[in-house]
Amino acid sequence: MAKTAMDLASGLGGNIDKKEVLSAVDQYEKYHACHGGDEQARKENYTDMVNKYYDLSTSFYEFGWGESFHFATRWKGESLKESIKRHEHFLALKLGLQPGMKVLDVGCGIGGPLREIARFSSTSITGLNNNDYQITRGKVLNRVAGVDKTCDFVKADFMKMPFSDNVFDAVYAIEATCHAPDALGCYKEIYRVLKPGQSFAAYEWCMTDSYDPKNEEHQKIKAQIELGDGLPDIRTTRQCLEALKLAGFEIIWEKDLAVDSPVSWFLPLDTTQWSLSSLRCTALGRLVTRNLVKALEYVGIAPQGSSRVQSFLETAADGLVAGGRKEIFTPMYVFVARKPLSTSASPSSGAQ
Ligand SMILES: C[S@@+](CC[C@H](N)C(=O)[O-])C[C@H]1O[C@@H](n2cnc3c(N)ncnc32)[C@H](O)[C@@H]1O
Repeated sequence: MAKTAMDLASGLGGNIDKKEVLSAVDQYEKYHACHGGDEQARKENYTDMVNKYYDLSTSFYEFGWGESFHFATRWKGESLKESIKRHEHFLALKLGLQPGMKVLDVGCGIGGPLREIARFSSTSITGLNNNDYQITRGKVLNRVAGVDKTCDFVKADFMKMPFSDNVFDAVYAIEATCHAPDALGCYKEIYRVLKPGQSFAAYEWCMTDSYDPKNEEHQKIKAQIELGDGLPDIRTTRQCLEALKLAGFEIIWEKDLAVDSPVSWFLPLDTTQWSLSSLRCTALGRLVTRNLVKALEYVGIAPQGSSRVQSFLETAADGLVAGGRKEIFTPMYVFVARKPLSTSASPSSGAQ
């Protein structure tokens, strides 16, 4: 169901004390290159940086995008909502999910994909997330969807998961592990909790082979995406693949799905386009939301700092559209990776 202005206002700032939202925005922005921040500080303080980002932005995501916080490949004639669901079903099929399997969703947001995939595949899914506010929202939505008996949430960092070794029949991550300060550390944790012979599939945010780290325009686009999406450092597709192999996985399949998506994934964010099915992302939609948030902030219903959040989310949208157009960035580098049945060779400890 579409969120109203009051839904948006009530969630602004997430679990941050309403009086602290403005200073949280200041602190968040200072982590990023666009505001003089550096990569090392973002990586060392990733928990604080990422949690501030999601406390500040989750209500905007729900208002403007829906319950699933990811992009999707899209066919002509398909609505944004339909494409998002199909993108989720596709990952479930690639993983070969079967009824009764015990599945882990790494970085589950408020559980949009978790509810859809659980109902699509009749699996029992645990959503792992380090953001308390999102878990509170997810629990409410799981009850509404009727999956609260078979699916649950665990509040924890995916760099140190509170699970025993070899417990999950399948693991997936949708546009989430890009928040990890180091891909190898994150993939190794996923490898550890997965049963031997079982698979991990993900959609990763990556810079592509067309990204030139010496090109100033490319650097600017990368920094805009990092600021607007709470990322310490966007890795390349090659770095992700290398980290998966070092973690011990066998690569079953990998592809950048952005390359041949009939409708560009960034279309809903492109202000030169008009779309009724993603009205709140269009130029007019953004203008209306901007003024709405300003008004809510002015009358004291939304906390001070809310407009600044809307503004860095717009920076993200601009960076994403530019990165997508130039094909230097993709939010849908997909892979299926298997933990070998025999795991006698210990995964490498090489840095990433
Ligand atoms: C872009 S959202 C995607 C959410 C969800 N997969 C979806 O598609 O709706 C990224 C998610 O990763 C979670 N996350 C980021 N860093 C994390 C960490 N270190 N441990 C656990 N979750 C994390 C965030 O809180 C957020 O829920």
